[in-house]
Amino acid sequence: MDLIIYNISQLVTMRGKNALRCGIEMQKVEILENAYIVIKNGKFLSIGMGEGYSQYLNDDTNLLNGKGYLVTPGLIDSHTHLVHYGSREHELEMKLNGFSYMDILNKGGGILYTVAQTRAASFDQLYLKAKKSLDEMLRLGITCVEAKSGYGLNLETEIKQLEVAKKLNEYHPIMIKSTFLGAHAIPFEYKEKKDLYIEEVLKMLEVIKEKDLAEYCDVFCQDGIFDREESKRILIRAKELGFKLKIHADEMSSGGSHLACELTCVSADHLMTSTLNDIKNLANHKVITNLLPATTFNLNKDYALARLMIDNNCGVALSSDYNPGSCPSLNLQFVMYLATNKMKMLPIEVMTAVTMNGACSINLENEKGSIDIGKDADFVIFDAPNLNYIMYHFGINHVKDVYIKGKCVVSDQKICY
Ligand code: NIG
Ligand code: FE
Repeated sequence: MDLIIYNISQLVTMRGKNALRCGIEMQKVEILENAYIVIKNGKFLSIGMGEGYSQYLNDDTNLLNGKGYLVTPGLIDSHTHLVHYGSREHELEMKLNGFSYMDILNKGGGILYTVAQTRAASFDQLYLKAKKSLDEMLRLGITCVEAKSGYGLNLETEIKQLEVAKKLNEYHPIMIKSTFLGAHAIPFEYKEKKDLYIEEVLKMLEVIKEKDLAEYCDVFCQDGIFDREESKRILIRAKELGFKLKIHADEMSSGGSHLACELTCVSADHLMTSTLNDIKNLANHKVITNLLPATTFNLNKDYALARLMIDNNCGVALSSDYNPGSCPSLNLQFVMYLATNKMKMLPIEVMTAVTMNGACSINLENEKGSIDIGKDADFVIFDAPNLNYIMYHFGINHVKDVYIKGKCVVSDQKICY
């Protein structure tokens, strides 16, 4: 059945080039009022203002009135640690007693606690937990996510995590892109034997490639985890094998963003400690600066310099970093609020960051990321009169309905796929 939504109070199309929007381009976004969209066979057929939709009406058209609503492209969360088991709320007291994220990890908790839980979990347990997270994301307006492994730290469990993501991609309406993050931490059985674990990661890369389980390879480049040289070794091998590259860089210690430029990673993520020089370098190398302010909020750290990045022509994306430790929240609308309130991004820049630039981070810019003729009809209807409204009123879910490939998957905040 064809679908037409007319009379939309505000339609943010994001249409234009299917490519990273950098600097001032992040503000050059089409916003239409009293707008309509026409959807046929899961794709956008026509976009315009006023009555122009009437020529597309037929007996079989589902016609919806968009008065009072904001419509945007489906939101894209391009950095998550979606598939994992267990939860770490027991770390709260350690945090309150002054232990840092790295202190907790060094005591064998943190990522390593989740690794133990994830290794022990069955495929079905992991699948059901991640499916529940995806359903929550869908209700928040997210239509595509990136999902990292990295809680196995051995071949068997890394494969298990990636196979869960693969199956979810088949059965859940949200599109999932997978990233191999074997270099997320050093497992306890390799304590004091990091070099041997790196050899293990290099071997895992080959198997993951052979099984075609991940499009990207990522490394946690951080003092005390994988330093620049170690990260470089892993990423170079990944590149040789045909992986696209991502890197957790400049999160708590510096250096990773230089490596991102040297190896032309698709994105460098976190960037909380990046300096003006780092930022200029990232902009020159067209590395997407993927910022995760909910992690910064939860770790009580300083925010990445998003304003400086945009003013220096970076292409900023924004993601949740959803994981059981540094960011146990998958609420991208909260991330969007933080981006405006803590990082001084304009609402329109934020929208660019979670649509087109997010799509570019996971190589989906030609099918997703904007409301444009011929592209997949992934969009969100917000119960809000305009874009500023959803970033001003924080802490609640503004989504009314979500559509993926023209099909309604959330109706009045209820899952209906
Ligand atoms: O992006 N930095 C490394 N990895 C995650 C945290 C993972 C965890 O704490 O379980 C992050 O912050
Ligand atoms: Fe992360």
